[in-house]
Amino acid sequence: MSKEKFYITTPIYYPSDKLHIGHAYCTVCTDTMARYMRLRGYDVMFLTGTDEHGQKIEDKAREAGVSPKEFVDNIVEGPRGVKDLWKLMNISNDRFIRTTDDYHVSAIQKIFRKMYDNGDIYKGKYVGKYCKPCESFWTESQLVDGKCPDCGREVQDAEEEAYFFRLSKYADRIRDLLVNTDFLEPRSRVNEMVKNFIDPGLEDLCVSRTSFTWGIPVDFDPGHVVYVWIDALSNYITALGYMNDKYDDFEKFWPADVHFIGKEIVRFHSIIWPAMLMSLGLPLPKKVFGHGWLLMDGGKMSKSKGNVVDPYLLAERYGVDALRFFLLREFPFGSDGNFSNEALISRINTDLANSLGNLVSRTVSMVIKYFDGRLPESYDGVEAMDQELTSAAGALRGAYQEQMDAYAFQNALGEIFKVIGRANKFIDETEPWKLAKDESNRERLARVMYDLLETIRICAVLLQPVMPDSCGRIFTQIGAGDLTSWDSAASFGMLPLDTAVTKGEAIFPRIDMDRELEELEKLSAPTGPQVKVEPVLPDVTIDDFAKCDMRVCKILACENVKKSEKLLKFTLDDGSGTPRQILSGIAKFYKPDDLVGKTAVAILNLPPRKMMGLESNGMLLSAVREVDGKEELNLILLDDSVPAGARLC
Ligand code: MSP
Repeated sequence: MSKEKFYITTPIYYPSDKLHIGHAYCTVCTDTMARYMRLRGYDVMFLTGTDEHGQKIEDKAREAGVSPKEFVDNIVEGPRGVKDLWKLMNISNDRFIRTTDDYHVSAIQKIFRKMYDNGDIYKGKYVGKYCKPCESFWTESQLVDGKCPDCGREVQDAEEEAYFFRLSKYADRIRDLLVNTDFLEPRSRVNEMVKNFIDPGLEDLCVSRTSFTWGIPVDFDPGHVVYVWIDALSNYITALGYMNDKYDDFEKFWPADVHFIGKEIVRFHSIIWPAMLMSLGLPLPKKVFGHGWLLMDGGKMSKSKGNVVDPYLLAERYGVDALRFFLLREFPFGSDGNFSNEALISRINTDLANSLGNLVSRTVSMVIKYFDGRLPESYDGVEAMDQELTSAAGALRGAYQEQMDAYAFQNALGEIFKVIGRANKFIDETEPWKLAKDESNRERLARVMYDLLETIRICAVLLQPVMPDSCGRIFTQIGAGDLTSWDSAASFGMLPLDTAVTKGEAIFPRIDMDRELEELEKLSAPTGPQVKVEPVLPDVTIDDFAKCDMRVCKILACENVKKSEKLLKFTLDDGSGTPRQILSGIAKFYKPDDLVGKTAVAILNLPPRKMMGLESNGMLLSAVREVDGKEELNLILLDDSVPAGARLC
């Protein structure tokens, strides 16, 4: 009989920066689900990858002085890049797609053409707003306080010839899908989508750009590149072989069973993606699950805020399994959660070192001490000592499955740790060290040991999707042999009576919280001064820029303005022959005498302004930034060989 199929995906990552723990979160959750379904016997396809086109990457590559492809290659394939991280985190993806892969590029061109040929893509003129960091187009009505509704940043006016996708045509079907089916979970996300996007009216979507080139060209209209989200979303089908010969798994695995994604990209996956599939005449994925964010001090992690947590650092220090466990056990999958080093260490100590690790090492040590490492072949009819423990362990698989099937990882692990807690209590209650003193208790003692080993084994079978390596080590220590399958956890008592154990190293060593917190602080402290980088402002035209008359000026005289702590009064030679007076609020940063004779830059054609009763005719240019939370400033000074009056352009 052929196995049932299960196709699961993560979002494909933007390789614009190194990944942080928030990115690892979604991939670890997806990996756990994929491993769980494999354990259940499903034929699983787990896809992840990278989303490599778009203006943001083009800009970053330019800043780095390399080509966009070189730039993404380094972050995806380079040392400590995306692929390295997934390897370190023990991610068991079956396939990895890069949207720069040739087969994907040509498939996107065919997909675009198919939607054009069926009338769902048409050419028009785009007039609206564009959020550069999110690479998203918005209509005026979608903006929140005039800013991007996703990231809250400034948007810019955009007008250009472009192709449009008839999203509006699918509005009723999408509404029905969201409101009347379980397509999108958690349910709260449905309300958000309907209220924010569907109710105000779905407008056609701009799906091509002409203002940059780092994208997949529209093959029948060079100069246009395909909008990154059309390119990116299609990865879920091109990676199976849709519209390409590279793979042949489309018939087998599509539709996807579930797309796991972060909450900010739910709009793309629950509105645009189903509409694209409707247009292509393809079945829809069975489910989209929008998980929450890992927050730092209540805010989203982002490189510009300087609050990203490095998964390499944590995995190398505490072990990959401990980190994976923490991510799944600590946060409810559908909601936001606050990441902290303290929560991580405390979770490792409580659940892994004290509870599970201790149970394994105590049990194995006792079997070695009291039975030379091997339990007897029979216990002469001694029944289980604790019905509560054995029935909880026997029923664990069902309780766990119910939670896992609902993607409630936290609760599924909660079920396992209830049983582990019960087993530890069982040791305290039965006091095996007392039983061991009396030879007549030998069978009862063996039964206690057996019940503990079997409980540990069942728990470890079910923990495998989360901590594959550590469970392997537990199996070796407790002598589980090949009793590690899903079926072997169906009921209590499958372990042979005369099981032999092997002492090994502590699987989850306890961590000294205070010392580690201090260490982590040192390790993650920025190595140099932290400069706050302001986001780039919306574009201006070259004509706007040309209106600013910026000139080189020699500083003839400079003095403090009376009664002002801030202002300096400059007398400047701007090359015109008439000295110019400019006031500048930089007294905090410079002594007047130090500036006399220097060559500065000023914008001259600002309207005159009065400050402290004095007129200022223009503005001197400075470089300002926030360093470690404090404002710093440098007056722009040029080489003295540049003559007064030279124009900046
Ligand atoms: N490239 C798009 C996805 C295209 S899918 C067709 C993208 N990439 S991303 O790299 O910006 O984000 C990838 C995933 O990481 C998203 O699901 C996002 O929600 C998730 N996370 C990024 N930061 C996160 C946290 N701090 N916490 C949890 N998940 C977060 O979006």
